[in-house]
Amino acid sequence: MSASPPRPTRIGIIGMGGFAAAHHHTVAQLEAEGHAKLICTCDPQAEAFSPQQHAWHFAERGVRVFTHYEQMIDACRESLDMVVVSTPINLHAQMHRAAAQAGLPVYLEKPATLDHAELEEMIAHDAQVPRAALVAFNFIIEPARRALKQRLLDGEFGALIEASLLARWPRPADYFYRTDWAGRLMLDGRLVLDSCFGNANAHLVHNMLFWLGQDTLSTWAEIASVRAELYRAHAIESADTFFVQTVTSNGQTLRCALTHACAGETRHCETLRCEKAEIRYTVGSHAEIRWLDGRGDERIEVNGFDAVRENHLAYYRYLRGEEPRPATSLADSRPFVHLNDLAYISSGQITAIPATLISPHRDPREQKDYLDVEGMDAAMEDFLRSATWPGSQWGRNAPGTLVTPAALPRLHDTIRTLHAALTPAG
Ligand SMILES: NC(=O)c1ccc[n+]([C@@H]2O[C@H](COP(=O)([O-])OP(=O)(O)OC[C@H]3O[C@@H](n4cnc5c(N)ncnc54)[C@H](O)[C@@H]3O)[C@@H](O)[C@H]2O)c1
Repeated sequence: MSASPPRPTRIGIIGMGGFAAAHHHTVAQLEAEGHAKLICTCDPQAEAFSPQQHAWHFAERGVRVFTHYEQMIDACRESLDMVVVSTPINLHAQMHRAAAQAGLPVYLEKPATLDHAELEEMIAHDAQVPRAALVAFNFIIEPARRALKQRLLDGEFGALIEASLLARWPRPADYFYRTDWAGRLMLDGRLVLDSCFGNANAHLVHNMLFWLGQDTLSTWAEIASVRAELYRAHAIESADTFFVQTVTSNGQTLRCALTHACAGETRHCETLRCEKAEIRYTVGSHAEIRWLDGRGDERIEVNGFDAVRENHLAYYRYLRGEEPRPATSLADSRPFVHLNDLAYISSGQITAIPATLISPHRDPREQKDYLDVEGMDAAMEDFLRSATWPGSQWGRNAPGTLVTPAALPRLHDTIRTLHAALTPAG
């Protein structure tokens, strides 16, 4: 006799637009396949999403719609197995807390928060729930990534010496105007810290800390020290370009060069330099292993991974007790949040790239406006190869200072000072 299929996982989704729409699409598909059941959803602008509600067949599926997440959780808690939070980063903590207080596990879009102190509060709230929250960094459960990390742990490539991340992701000016929190340091007196490092490329930074976490498959490297320089070319509060060097508690160096201040192609690469090989991993494409002993290169295809679908299914399995842990727990995201925060503290300033180096670039096909910074690609490559900082070339008056996690309590003062410097006095 075959085992009966598991009961569909009962879900409430907070949010309807932006990336929350991707969750609605995925859950509708998983519901049609018998894996999930959408019980309820909410958005302060629920009415504005009438066409989507129609397209997602809410009426036929019996989905309850609310305008406030607390009302949704109060009304539906007994009929839910989990809540998805896919809303602005600065709202995650309060939404996670409301779900946790109702005893509900949370599938939380990345990053959980960009404030190390708030993360600790979230970890404490999450301990009230029988099943830990998932912080949905997309790529930790990619089978090819996990297989490669296991080979690293098994010592096949020798010791990991150093690592680097290149992330060149052009964003048009309207990306920063799509929501009230985009590109902001603070909103309503609270930290936001939206940036190319903390938001769009957060997956890749967390991936790097995953590679460098040497104890087990589910270990992320801890941060020992950080030096960073932060820049902006766009007219935003936060930074659109990060140069960050960190040394982990295992003594390995990671350099990250990330920018949204560019036009043209999107390029990203996670590079691991090991004793016996150099590994280059490009999300959504392939990984290459270049053996230093001259044997032929190895290529691994890593395309075709449906991140939202696979993360949903993995979290349902965890809730049913079929997986030992969520792919990334709140505590697992500590190194990422610490690195983000220490980058601001180390940099101490967000330097405006000289206007003479910035030129507008209109994409005629997309009808969108980008900025190009002269010398950006060379600056990123020089930094990753030889730790050459853009520094005075880009108008910095002093290098970033070397900081350790002991400096984390300075984050709020640092950000308030950066924010105050943007606001004309009077
Ligand atoms: N995993 C990924 O690949 C991926 C991709 C993009 C964004 N994200 C993450 O998704 C999250 C949302 O980002 P976004 O760009 O979609 O943001 P967004 O500003 O577009 O907001 C998403 C939705 O949240 C809703 N919302 C706002 N306030 C709300 C409230 N009080 N109650 C209920 N809903 C509310 C908005 O109306 C919107 O529908 C962020 O954490 C972001 O980093 C993840």
